[in-house]
Amino acid sequence: MPVGNCSQSGQKWPENVGILAMEVYFPYTCVNQEKLEEFDGVSKGKYTIGLGQRNMGFCGDREDINSLSLTVVHKLMERNSISPNDIGRLEVGTETLIDKSKSVKSVLMQLFEKSGNSSIEGVDTTNACYGGTQALFNAVSWIESSAWDGRLAIVVAADIAVYAAGSARSTGGAGAVAMLVGPDAPLVMEQGMRSIHMEHAYDFYKPNMSSEYPVVDGKLSVRCYFHALDQCYKKYTDKGNTLHQKIQFTLDDIDYAIFHTPFCRIVQKSLARLMFHDFLCSTESSNSESEGDRYAGLLQFRNVKLEETFQDEAKAKEIEKASMKCSQTMYDKKTAPSLFLSREVGNMYTPSLYGCLTSLLFSEPLESLAGKRVLFFSYGSGLASAMFSFNISNDISSGSPLNLLVTSLKDIPERLASRLQVEPEEFVKTLTAREITHNKNNYSPSCSENELFPGTYYLTNVDEKFRRTYQRTVDESSKEGCMVV
Ligand SMILES: CC(C)(COP(=O)(O)OP(=O)(O)OC[C@H]1O[C@@H](n2cnc3c(N)ncnc32)[C@H](O)[C@@H]1OP(=O)(O)O)[C@@H](O)C(=O)NCCC(=O)NCCS
Repeated sequence: MPVGNCSQSGQKWPENVGILAMEVYFPYTCVNQEKLEEFDGVSKGKYTIGLGQRNMGFCGDREDINSLSLTVVHKLMERNSISPNDIGRLEVGTETLIDKSKSVKSVLMQLFEKSGNSSIEGVDTTNACYGGTQALFNAVSWIESSAWDGRLAIVVAADIAVYAAGSARSTGGAGAVAMLVGPDAPLVMEQGMRSIHMEHAYDFYKPNMSSEYPVVDGKLSVRCYFHALDQCYKKYTDKGNTLHQKIQFTLDDIDYAIFHTPFCRIVQKSLARLMFHDFLCSTESSNSESEGDRYAGLLQFRNVKLEETFQDEAKAKEIEKASMKCSQTMYDKKTAPSLFLSREVGNMYTPSLYGCLTSLLFSEPLESLAGKRVLFFSYGSGLASAMFSFNISNDISSGSPLNLLVTSLKDIPERLASRLQVEPEEFVKTLTAREITHNKNNYSPSCSENELFPGTYYLTNVDEKFRRTYQRTVDESSKEGCMVV
């Protein structure tokens, strides 16, 4: 893997900084949402149609945040032939804390020990599902800064999303995404096109360190998500107007739109909401006939203010329904291809948005991706949110960085299909076991090592001083095979 061409002497400033390679990890075990509806005694269709989910990934007691992160980083480096010495920054975004002081990043340093490379910046970043995005921003900023020394960065977003029994449980999931970040990338972070909205809210938080479960006000979290979306889109489009000399920057200027996905249905509603925003702006800036045709189903809401949707629930539902209808074709084209992984694995928390990126990349033909702009919306409760965009390279020739990146993700549907689907009773038993053993010392996990994909790190022991040791399942395709850390 080539490293960047700018030395500390600063002869050439890095250009086109972005994502060079990606790796996704999700657990081998999953539960079917249709079966879960029946098991939970909710009305048929609530999880599958109402929330838009198909399966949910979950981990047994063999996996924790360290093992997930070790697995995904090891795979990223192995599959892309990255030398440990090429890495100068390693960032982890997670909200799955098993230690209040020691970072997951420090655990990952074991993967670099043999190479002798201990000169790697970065630690962990936490704010619900947003940590991965901040980690990515940090890595890009480092490469664009005077501190850069020519090496590459790795960003890890990983989480285990579990909820106490109740209405939120079906929106769990688990997984990890690792991204190699550097110059001359096939996915380039667009300069200047970034908006931020941060605010204090108690919509979802984890004050109880002895439990994996969050305290969650589900309805409030949905409201906070939409409010953050409105704020970010307004600021993002304002920047688009200025930077791209537009009267009104709209969804027409975006080829794909991907969102943090706690459940798939909220994403369709989000795109619809952005279209409603465009419609409200269009009535202010232009009143052409074609605009009227296009937003025909929305014209009755011409005088509504977006904020009113938080006050009048009935009116909000009407607008949502009309906007979803109006944006259906655009949703099918610009957003639906990004939801494959989310529908199958559930909310992975920090990796969710980046899982959507991988779904988009492996679902769309290369010719359609070439030269396109992808809009990202990242949301983490509490709350922190950002909207930004990436430009996809035009070069789709065989052996081009984009071609290699996309090809490397094509096995994801097959891997998803090869998972072990367990009955809801087993799923609940596993979560109960995790509850009992959470943060225990003097403990050896009991889940079977056979219920893990090849090349997966797993916890072997927590000693009396809470120190954790891991082993890796055999991977025939791996050069290093079974590895103990
Ligand atoms: C999201 C969450 C609040 C939903 O829980 P809930 O209140 O039990 O669910 P609801 O009753 O609102 O039902 C969810 C949807 O399914 C629909 N639904 C319910 N039963 C249905 C059925 N049988 N068939 C089809 N749809 C159905 C509901 O109408 C609703 O859709 P709508 O919002 O478009 O009207 C809950 O899962 C949660 O707290 N999740 C964790 C937090 C989270 O993910 N927040 C998101 C922002 S970060």
